[in-house]
Amino acid sequence: MPATYRTIRTATPSDLKYLVHLQKRWSNDVGFLPRQALLDYLERRGALIITQNAEPCGYLLFRPSKRGIVRIPQVAIDPELLRSTAGTCLLSKLKHAATANGCFALRALSRTDTLAHLFFPAIGFTATAVLPAPSKRHMPVIEWTHSLLTPAITAQAMLRTLRTAEPTHAATAIGADVRLPA
Ligand SMILES: CC(C)(COP(=O)(O)OP(=O)(O)OC[C@H]1O[C@@H](n2cnc3c(N)ncnc32)[C@H](O)[C@@H]1OP(=O)(O)O)[C@@H](O)C(=O)NCCC(=O)NCCS
Repeated sequence: MPATYRTIRTATPSDLKYLVHLQKRWSNDVGFLPRQALLDYLERRGALIITQNAEPCGYLLFRPSKRGIVRIPQVAIDPELLRSTAGTCLLSKLKHAATANGCFALRALSRTDTLAHLFFPAIGFTATAVLPAPSKRHMPVIEWTHSLLTPAITAQAMLRTLRTAEPTHAATAIGADVRLPA
């Protein structure tokens, strides 16, 4: 049996056709983004592709916010390769890149009737909100968050909060539970 090898790389505009194809396959699960929106992610280097034996087998879209939260609008794997850790590998790559860039958390949404509802908690995400179903036909949506905070980053974030706080608030902030902006 030939060896299997995988790589993860930043997607480029030449991957648009693949993204359109896989998004269509999972349209009920990942929702719909127009071609131009997908292209925007590709042009901003906001997409990862996982390949198996040099062929794309999944993708992930991401967008960091100014507040240090990396949103994940879509992640999708080829149906033939489900449950072979491809999704975990993509999220793991993003997690390391986001941590290295000083981000605080990864955040994703999933409906309760999709595979993602089993996937996100299994790889360390915590349910942080329940959003109303988009329509009567749909199931509720769960917001999932994966904290990237380490003690060192927490200390930096606290210092930043204290430096930007008004003097009167700083005294409160020192003794209080200092929270990052949501
Ligand atoms: C969600 C998705 C990306 C997961 O990718 P994947 O490569 O199949 O997931 P992994 O193999 O890395 O699974 C990691 C863990 O998640 C859980 N999991 C994933 N799929 C599961 C399933 N069908 N049933 C039960 N648990 C599942 C398991 O705990 C699994 O670990 P295990 O196999 O050791 O038990 C994939 O199912 C997919 O593309 N779904 C359609 C698109 C979608 O819903 N995207 C998310 C919303 S944008």
